[in-house]
Amino acid sequence: MISRNDACWCGSGKKWKKCHYPSSAPFTDVDVKKEYYNQYKIVLKDEHQIKKIEEACQLTAYILDELCKQAKEGVTTNELDQLSIKLHKQAHAKPAPLNYGNPPFTKTICTSLNEVVCHGIPDDRPLQQGDIMNIDVSSILDGYYGDCSRMVTIGQIDEEKKRVVDTSYQCLMDAIAICKPGVKIFEIAEVIEAIAKKNHCTVVYQFVGHGVGLAFHEPPQVPFHYNDYSIPMAPGMIFTIEPMINAGVAEAVIDSKDKWTARTVDGRPSAQWEHTILITPSGHKILTLPPNA
Ligand code: MF3
Ligand code: CO
Repeated sequence: MISRNDACWCGSGKKWKKCHYPSSAPFTDVDVKKEYYNQYKIVLKDEHQIKKIEEACQLTAYILDELCKQAKEGVTTNELDQLSIKLHKQAHAKPAPLNYGNPPFTKTICTSLNEVVCHGIPDDRPLQQGDIMNIDVSSILDGYYGDCSRMVTIGQIDEEKKRVVDTSYQCLMDAIAICKPGVKIFEIAEVIEAIAKKNHCTVVYQFVGHGVGLAFHEPPQVPFHYNDYSIPMAPGMIFTIEPMINAGVAEAVIDSKDKWTARTVDGRPSAQWEHTILITPSGHKILTLPPNA
């Protein structure tokens, strides 16, 4: 471990305490780090940043876990939002969606039911038997970001809903499984498209995953439909994988009044699961696995 009076790892000749302190040596080679920033505007995170982002991700996963436990028939999505507000306060953290974007998002989580693809806004509708819902939690802890989401099902759900819920989960986990240094961003979509096709589902192309950690949405974009983004994964990259999978056509349309809620154009169900992942020297680490997972 470098000490405060040692020369900084960046080669400036200055003492560490006068230079990059408290950031430790980059997780990856300084030249690689510079290249990723210059070419792609991707910040490869150092050990200190990774530790802080992992703490934010763990909080996000914990809050999501608590919200999922409360998502039962008769509960409204506003009640889940209230619980999210309470849990963020308790942790001295901030919910990233609140006031985000234009027009500003008005709630602290996204709750996307049935035909809603993403960015559903909590309201007073009670959850009903047969509903499927994505709960998306993104938290800011000490200035660092975590982002994850999951599906919950209420009572008995029909075959089509079960198909999108299960398929989107398999898409997420199988895409994560291939992630390691050198794998290209477009390979994620190849995994996802193949699984979707096999299960007679479609992949939403209007929303993408993203770098995350120092900001809510950082480069790179991570598309889930076929694409040619040939950026190779490198140690210290942190990004989300969050495929949105539809039972019917792939197209989504944004609500013309609230400017957020995205729905399938054919009204058929959609599902999504999301993790924040870190690329490590030997593979990857899921930063948003819930406690005891
Ligand atoms: N995981 C979602 C995303 O990355 C969370 C959206 S929150 C919202 O876009 F505020 F943008 F809706
Ligand atoms: Co996200």
